[in-house]
Amino acid sequence: MTHVYPGVWRLTFGKPEEDTPVRYAFRPPLEEALNALEDLPLPDIAEALDFTVTKRGCRIIAPMDREERIYGGGISTRVFDKTDRRIIVRPTDRPETEEGGSHGPCPFFVSTRGYGFYLDTARYAQMYFGVTNPLGAHDRPEEQKEIVASSAEELYARKAASHKTMLWEIPTAKGIDVYIFAGRDISDVVSRYNLFCGGGALPPLWGLGIHYRGDSAFTAEEHIQLAKSFREEGIPCDMWGLEPKWQDQTYSCSYKWNLTNFPDPAAFGREMSRLGLHVSAWQHCFTHPTSPIYEEICPYSGDFKVWQGAVPDFTLPEAREIFQRQQNESLFSMEGFDCVKLDECDHQPEGDAFWSFPESAVFPGGLDGEQMHSLIGPLYQQTMAEPLGKQNRRTWGLVRETHAMAAPLPYSVYSDSYTQDCYLRGMANTGFCGQMWVPELREASSIEDLYRRIQICLLGSIMVVNCWYLKMPPWKQITTGPNREYVKMPGHEEVTGVVRELFKLRMSLIPYLYTAFNEYARKGLAPVRALVSDYSDDPATYAVDTQFLLGDRLMVCPCLTGKSAREVYFPRGTWVDFYTGDRIEGGASREITTPIERLAIYVKDDCILPVADPLPCVGRDSVFRLTVRRYGTGELPFTLYEDDGESCDWQRGAQNTIILRKDSETRQGGYTGAPRYEIGARKDI
Ligand code: GAL
Repeated sequence: MTHVYPGVWRLTFGKPEEDTPVRYAFRPPLEEALNALEDLPLPDIAEALDFTVTKRGCRIIAPMDREERIYGGGISTRVFDKTDRRIIVRPTDRPETEEGGSHGPCPFFVSTRGYGFYLDTARYAQMYFGVTNPLGAHDRPEEQKEIVASSAEELYARKAASHKTMLWEIPTAKGIDVYIFAGRDISDVVSRYNLFCGGGALPPLWGLGIHYRGDSAFTAEEHIQLAKSFREEGIPCDMWGLEPKWQDQTYSCSYKWNLTNFPDPAAFGREMSRLGLHVSAWQHCFTHPTSPIYEEICPYSGDFKVWQGAVPDFTLPEAREIFQRQQNESLFSMEGFDCVKLDECDHQPEGDAFWSFPESAVFPGGLDGEQMHSLIGPLYQQTMAEPLGKQNRRTWGLVRETHAMAAPLPYSVYSDSYTQDCYLRGMANTGFCGQMWVPELREASSIEDLYRRIQICLLGSIMVVNCWYLKMPPWKQITTGPNREYVKMPGHEEVTGVVRELFKLRMSLIPYLYTAFNEYARKGLAPVRALVSDYSDDPATYAVDTQFLLGDRLMVCPCLTGKSAREVYFPRGTWVDFYTGDRIEGGASREITTPIERLAIYVKDDCILPVADPLPCVGRDSVFRLTVRRYGTGELPFTLYEDDGESCDWQRGAQNTIILRKDSETRQGGYTGAPRYEIGARKDI
């Protein structure tokens, strides 16, 4: 066992495989931050792991406390608490499975007992939490006597509860590195894991604005017209998406412009940039024979195609270099193109229309198809982020698969998921594993449904309205279900007004969000977290998957369509309604009512909260004019982060912190550019 950092240990069992997420991590651990943390005692689980090599690979049996709850395993929209379940950590394009299949599978799990464990594997690990009983283990004869059940469910429930163990199975591998993380609560455990991954990603300031994606069939002119109408109508927008048809060939991709729809891509980029927009071009990495790089990339690709396209092996520098050269030529060398949407890098292990490469595929760098399915998402993200990093620019994109060690990757996983309660559970689940997630907002079945969907997505890592098959944004006309019948929205000015106000709410919280992301980057604290993360000692939070914490002082409680009231659990302390200033004593659940146009947000009492005048977009020279809200005693100060908002110089010290206190503020640091914040009125609440 190696004590790698304070509160972090590595245990090596057998002979681990070489091709693991740690080997292909984007960043090394953030050592300075890790070494500055308080050391904690070794969690007792670390000394009780029972490892065996099996015919199928290897396995570990671990004891489990009867009361402890397990979370994590990646982005999960159906299941929150993983206790008493089997979870298979593998990618799938079906996000809503209960078995663990995910757009962001991750073999990292956390426990309410204040520890987490990461299995460093790209294999589809099968994790059993309290549902397997090894023969003879922990036999407790006195409990066996109790089994006099009145129903089958009761009988099985008791059998399962009589002993508890975890079983971790890793196929193929004959050994594994297990990392154990300690923490005072789940947030502390996850923070250590995120720092071990290299720290969280820091968005450019414009990445925190609104992201709209236009119809795939639009011409350059149509995109520009619609974008101008956003500006005329005062709808905030910072990023603008182009869907497949910007290319002359997709599924698979050529990465060449469709010159019929976009006769002058450089002029298009310049015009969008003039409108204050960053263009995010859709693509996947399967490279079509008509692509200029096809012949060159084939020797560095797997031995199976996807949609007739070669699958580049991004573990190889040659494949990255060839691919990046084309991306620079088509996109990143031109003004306006500095973010992307990376599609289809998940997989389809179940379902009736298999479309990806098989698990037995062979890649020239040494990975097989199973390992590549797990790693292709992160490797693709790295390949696309690197050229912008070399130009000293940050980016903020979308991707459809990620995995372990993903925290520093500046991409949020999105999905075609459309069930509203899954949207919300995904938000609550997102902070357990160093991954970011955004539900795909596109159509709505009613005006109320539109508002509620926007509210759920509004305050995550990225706010995307993904109208890739709608001519107009859904607040102008809506479609009804899969037949995509357009319905004119009655009174759309009023609807536009409500949507505008919701978007403005996000824009007014950009300084707050920027702090949350800086704390993610520097301290590992996930910006969006389930309640159980911060209140791991409060069993009333263990099943709360419909509300989430945002940063260190807000709690967001969206309502689903068809409901104007919902139950909210208020953890200990006093909480203040963001809009009315009403105070609520924590430690209990309460029914709250929210009008359909409003997202319920609560602020921790006795703190400082900066709220900005909303901007239509965040430009290079934008200054946020702040109202400093003083809640209660206002004792808890707020730290603003100030930098150029778009380069990587913050990593080299070009950043200030401004500590906002009740009656004063102090600024320090090495950023010497134009001020980002103008501190206005202080307001007591
Ligand atoms: C899907 C993706 C959608 C959209 C579409 C375009 O795979 O999830 O968001 O981009 O492809 O073909």
